[in-house]
Amino acid sequence: MYSEKVMDHFMNPRNVGEIENADGVGEVGNAKCGDIMKIYLKIENDIIKDAKFKTFGCGAAVATSSMATELVIGKTIDEALKITNKAVAEALDGLPPVKMHCSNLAEEGIKAAIEDYLKKTGRLSKECESEV
Ligand code: FES
Ligand code: FES
Repeated sequence: MYSEKVMDHFMNPRNVGEIENADGVGEVGNAKCGDIMKIYLKIENDIIKDAKFKTFGCGAAVATSSMATELVIGKTIDEALKITNKAVAEALDGLPPVKMHCSNLAEEGIKAAIEDYLKKTGRLSKECESEV
C-alpha cells in the first residue's frame, strides 16, 4: 500500500522537533481527521535555512511532513510557497488515493509558517494572503 519512501520517512522522520526563536511558525489542522502539524522555519535573507516539525497524525501525515521539511530547506520562500501537496506526495513516490488528504497538512503548514514570517517582517502581501 505504501511506497518504500513513505515507510522510510514514517519510521525515520527527518527534522522532528522545534526551532527555538523560529522566524516562522505554522500550525494547521486537517479538517477531515483532526490531525495537527506544527512546523518551524529558520529563515535568513528569505532563504529557508532549517525546518523542523511536530505532527500529531497518521503515518502519511508524518511522512509528508518529514519530506516537506527536506524539500524546503535551502529553498527561497517564493520557491517554498510553490510546493504543493502533490509535489510532496510525488517526492515520496506517491500516496494511496485515500491518504492524499494527509499531504495537505504539509503544504498548508509550510504556507502558514511562511505567512507568519512575512507577518513578523511586515511584508505580508495581498498575493500571499490569498494563497494561504
Ligand atoms: Fe484520519 Fe486520514 S483522516 S487517517
Ligand atoms: Fe489525518 Fe492522515 S489521517 S492526516
